[in-house]
Amino acid sequence: ELVRSGMLLGLGTGSTARHFIAQLGARVAGGLEVAAVASSRASEEQARSLGIRILDGVDRPLDLAVDGADEVDPSLNLVKGRGGALFREKVVAAAARRFVVVVDETKLVPALGVGVLPVEVLPFLWRTTAGRLAGLGCSWTLRGGEGTPFLTDNGNLVLDLLFPAGIAEPEELAAEIRDVVGVVEHGLFLGLATACLVAGADGVRILGSLE
Ligand code: A5P
Repeated sequence: ELVRSGMLLGLGTGSTARHFIAQLGARVAGGLEVAAVASSRASEEQARSLGIRILDGVDRPLDLAVDGADEVDPSLNLVKGRGGALFREKVVAAAARRFVVVVDETKLVPALGVGVLPVEVLPFLWRTTAGRLAGLGCSWTLRGGEGTPFLTDNGNLVLDLLFPAGIAEPEELAAEIRDVVGVVEHGLFLGLATACLVAGADGVRILGSLE
């Protein structure tokens, strides 16, 4: 219902975003005319296979970006990146006038940091980067393990940080993580989501504004 012909869209990544892209593909097959940027190779491939026009670059804000999330707090701050696409997802979300998140109610949390916070880091001297991040009070694991580390679409590694007491001050933590040399991007999406569609047993609730 939010998507109209002529729109420039941002496509998220993950099992929920796949449903959105599939539905969008069905609309395009029915005559809807949109163009989109994709936050991952996987989403790009899916979109292209459905006939959705994919752009590499845009010169105006996206009208609407739609993505899933791993955790959503009451202020619509998010943890994302457990699918590994957080960097491009954040670029897409930040480029959009409206960023709508779709989750089921298991993703709602009273405060962020219930699970891991993914951080994309450069492979170069990554252990040094991990050590600095640990200094912020977390434990870390290298996604995929050292033998077969997970590589992002950008060729980087992902460290999954676990804060034992959760994340009390997301803005402060975001700034501290950003200050660590070697960090490419982190999975805290603060102040980006404009609305969240929450699916539950009783239907879909809307948090935030769809305007
Ligand atoms: C991808 O990097 C992630 O940010 C996903 O968007 C997020 O993990 C939600 O994924 P699911 O819809 O698969 O739960």
